[in-house]
Amino acid sequence: MSALTTDVKVLVIGAGAMGSGIAHVAAAAGHPVYLYDTRAEAIERGRDGIARDLRFLVGKGKLGETEAEATLARVVPVTELVAARDAGLAIEAVVEHLEVKQKLFRELEGLLGPGAILATNTSSLSITLIGAALERPERLAGLHFFNPAPRMKLVEIVSGLATERAVADTLYATAKAWGKVPVHASSTPGFIVNRVARPYYGEALRVLAERGAEPATIDAALRESCGFPMGPFELMDLIGHDVNFAVSNSVFDAYFGDKRFTPSLIQQELVAAGRLGRKSGRGFYDYAAGAPRQAPQVEPAHEGVATATVVGEFGPAEPLAARLEAAGIAVERRASAGAGWIEVGGARVALSDGRTATRRAVEEDVADLVLFDLARDYATTPRLTLARADACSEAAWAALVGTLQRAGLEVGRIDDVAGLVGLRTVAMLANEAADAVLQGIASAADVDTAMRYGTNYPQGPLAWADQLGPAFVARVLANLREHYGEERYRISVLLQRVALRPGGRFHAG
Ligand code: NAI
Repeated sequence: MSALTTDVKVLVIGAGAMGSGIAHVAAAAGHPVYLYDTRAEAIERGRDGIARDLRFLVGKGKLGETEAEATLARVVPVTELVAARDAGLAIEAVVEHLEVKQKLFRELEGLLGPGAILATNTSSLSITLIGAALERPERLAGLHFFNPAPRMKLVEIVSGLATERAVADTLYATAKAWGKVPVHASSTPGFIVNRVARPYYGEALRVLAERGAEPATIDAALRESCGFPMGPFELMDLIGHDVNFAVSNSVFDAYFGDKRFTPSLIQQELVAAGRLGRKSGRGFYDYAAGAPRQAPQVEPAHEGVATATVVGEFGPAEPLAARLEAAGIAVERRASAGAGWIEVGGARVALSDGRTATRRAVEEDVADLVLFDLARDYATTPRLTLARADACSEAAWAALVGTLQRAGLEVGRIDDVAGLVGLRTVAMLANEAADAVLQGIASAADVDTAMRYGTNYPQGPLAWADQLGPAFVARVLANLREHYGEERYRISVLLQRVALRPGGRFHAG
């Protein structure tokens, strides 16, 4: 299916944050654009915003003066919808209100030509439900941009039950021609990104609720060790807790109260107190001028030891052994079946598998047991987060921490929380992603693309599961489920199935 040609006029309805950004994108791609809003001042502000963005790009040398002028000239303000009746594509970005959107699309149906495509930028309403008010719902689809639309690459092309495939395909090709990264999704609450991303906030809030660590320590585990661009608490502070809590509630309600999406009482309290994040000056962090910035917990310096023994296969954490050796620590190897560990100064240290250190110490009959969290790359991670068994001695702990410090690692400690921070978060993201694939919301490739370009995750959750091994991820979730006894950690049946296949992977090759 080919993209709409640039002579097709695009009508953007709603000139707020999203509408003006979308108008910018369509005009930059060469389309004549009508920009409409019920408030004339909003149209003016929207167009001024586009002009400002274009000037910024010219200033940065990313856009020529003439091109910027031509782009702006293509954005034509209209104060009556009827003036845009020759548009071939209408993109709605008005308030997130079902009746308002339905009324608008009914009006557009009567106004635009029969071949015109209708698109909505809704982030939470069902495309099927919006379309139910139309005579021809087959020409309506979701065209879900991310904020800010000119900069964020991802566009979710969302099909309702009645959406014609050709309409979705044309929008896909058009978004691509506009320089975006489109993905197909079917209409379900949160589509791909707003649903699959829930555990990124949810698991961090759970660890905080259990008083496993302070926000800055949890943020550091995900940002510095796992490579996420922002920690969950700083990200929620940026998004605004009112917005983030509303999305969490809407996804929870839309899935009929599925426990996986249970919103957080801690976040509810922040909203109640007006601590909405950066925009109100305070959220998890204090943004007042001169306020001290909460720092992640760092273990004080300890003496290390000169020898370590790697027992068995160390899997993804293998580069840690090389880092110890590079720091002049003599590393011996001892064969053993199954997942391995390192012995340092009497302590046994291993990658978490979703059990607590305290439980594993009992099951493996070793008192001095310490677990470490997931890192995206153990060869380069600057920081490692550890949790120790209740029975672990101070001496063994100090020797281990000192040795890791000798190898150049900053060591953070959290309480003995199952699956620590990074591991349980990535496992739950992969679990949610697997469910979205299972339910036919999107392909594995599109789910991963959506998470990389819609949230800037360092890699897609399913590619991450492939790297760790789906069987390992499934085991982590099984251990979390057993630990908490909660349905929240139930394993996606697709993940279970892929985990059982010999060499099973979500992505081929
Ligand atoms: P906004 O509040 O900045 O802009 C909405 C604009 O729509 C206002 O200028 C308002 O005057 C206008 N409007 C209201 N009713 C109208 C009508 N019947 N006809 C014409 N114009 C009307 O809102 P924002 O943030 O731009 O959101 C717009 C849509 O995009 C919503 O559906 C929202 O869920 C969705 N969205 C928002 C994102 C965000 O991060 N802000 C991200 C992705 C989607």
